[in-house]
Amino acid sequence: MVDVILGLQWGDEGKGKIVDYFAPNYDVIARFQGGANAGHTLYVNGQKVVLHQIPSGIFHEDKINLIGNGVVLDAVTLKKECEKVASMGIDYKKNLYISERAHLILPTHRALDKASELAKGNEKIGSTLKGIGPAYMDKTGRNGLRVGDLLDKGFISQYIKIRLKHQRLLDSYNFQEDISAWEDEFFESIELLRDFKIVNGEYFINDKIQQGKKVLAEGAQGSMLDVDFGTFPFVTSSSTISAGVCTGLGIAPQKIIDVFGVSKAYCTRVGSGPFPTELNDETGELIRKIGSEFGATTGRPRRCGWIDLVALNFACMINGVTKIIMTKTDILDTLPELNVCTSYKINGEEKNYVPFQMTQVKIDPVFKSFEGWQTDITAMSEYDSLPQNMKNYIDYINKFLKVPVKFISNGPGRDQIILA
Ligand code: GDP
Ligand code: IMO
Ligand code: MG
Repeated sequence: MVDVILGLQWGDEGKGKIVDYFAPNYDVIARFQGGANAGHTLYVNGQKVVLHQIPSGIFHEDKINLIGNGVVLDAVTLKKECEKVASMGIDYKKNLYISERAHLILPTHRALDKASELAKGNEKIGSTLKGIGPAYMDKTGRNGLRVGDLLDKGFISQYIKIRLKHQRLLDSYNFQEDISAWEDEFFESIELLRDFKIVNGEYFINDKIQQGKKVLAEGAQGSMLDVDFGTFPFVTSSSTISAGVCTGLGIAPQKIIDVFGVSKAYCTRVGSGPFPTELNDETGELIRKIGSEFGATTGRPRRCGWIDLVALNFACMINGVTKIIMTKTDILDTLPELNVCTSYKINGEEKNYVPFQMTQVKIDPVFKSFEGWQTDITAMSEYDSLPQNMKNYIDYINKFLKVPVKFISNGPGRDQIILA
């Protein structure tokens, strides 16, 4: 069987911490999409670690961690991350497997990402500049190089061919930067990749499932950044939703049991694009400060706002969410009043769905307000002991979404989680 943990908002919902917390209940932890644009933060024995490419189960040494075919792999980031993990005493080579079908992010992908963003000017996506879009474009455009190609004698000539193609594109952008240092790093890093357990991921994972092993699929980004269902074009380039688990790992839909959707108790977004409940005021500033809302990958300040139940409802629908995990509830501890968005007002009319066009229409969120709990909840471990105002807030969300909030995270630590 397979369970899934994925983000319901615009990423950074706290997936890394949750995967690390759930990992002891599973045998295999597998990333199914995205690349080094992800930044998943864990606290291991009090030490903060941010993982970009390695699944968040790596600190549980008896667990298998798989980088699935749906991932685009940045060998340079992977190498750095492996060194970090090794410095913390983890023998990553023992339990880390990589699908031969995962596509490689090439140095020219990063350059193309940068060139494309520069060319867009004010309309830029706010990409993490990790080469994600260009790498997925080469995958769907049937040009890319895959991890399995590294083992092929013709790898270098294939690389040169694709590099030439990219150079022509870079020239058309008038991109002048010297990327030879990136290339040196890339070639150094792929040497390490060759030493990994490169497997046929789909047989590997289906064999495990057949043996009765439990798989946890770890999502990156969030549902509102999904290439099909997110706030296009301000999205990432992969299928971040539960359907992506099937194509990103090679497993059948009926193998999926639980889809755990992770949502903050409020909402954030990093990069450009629509964000109906954004707070461009002191409260937004305050949430950013208390919540340390700065990107784990790029360090950029995250935009902050109230929880958006219209978007969450949509995310629950397209993912088939069975249980919600609400994170960063403690960040709201001191706020006297909280708002939840229950519908969007568009051209004077109230709508309860996410519209096709979010960039060119003005969306005014309709809010329901709640009294804050104004209690420090970070040391609490029982649902019963939580303040009544917090229970009211969560009860309302449960009823609205018709999906239960089953876990409440009340701090970044591994043990700061409450079963509802
Ligand atoms: P991810 O990309 O979904 O894994 O999330 P990030 O790691 O980018 O961002 C989440 C941030 O919130 C990290 O710094 C976590 O350590 C932190 N975090 C996660 N859950 C909680 C929580 O319940 N309370 C607090 N205060 N911090 C949390
Ligand atoms: P995790 O897994 C938050 C955002 C970028 C940008 C858009 C496209 O940590 O939740 P890309 O580099 O993918 O081309 O950028 O998506 N973005 C994320 N935002 N969390 C992430 O990952 C993100 N990965 C990409 O900021 O707006
Ligand atoms: Mg993140």
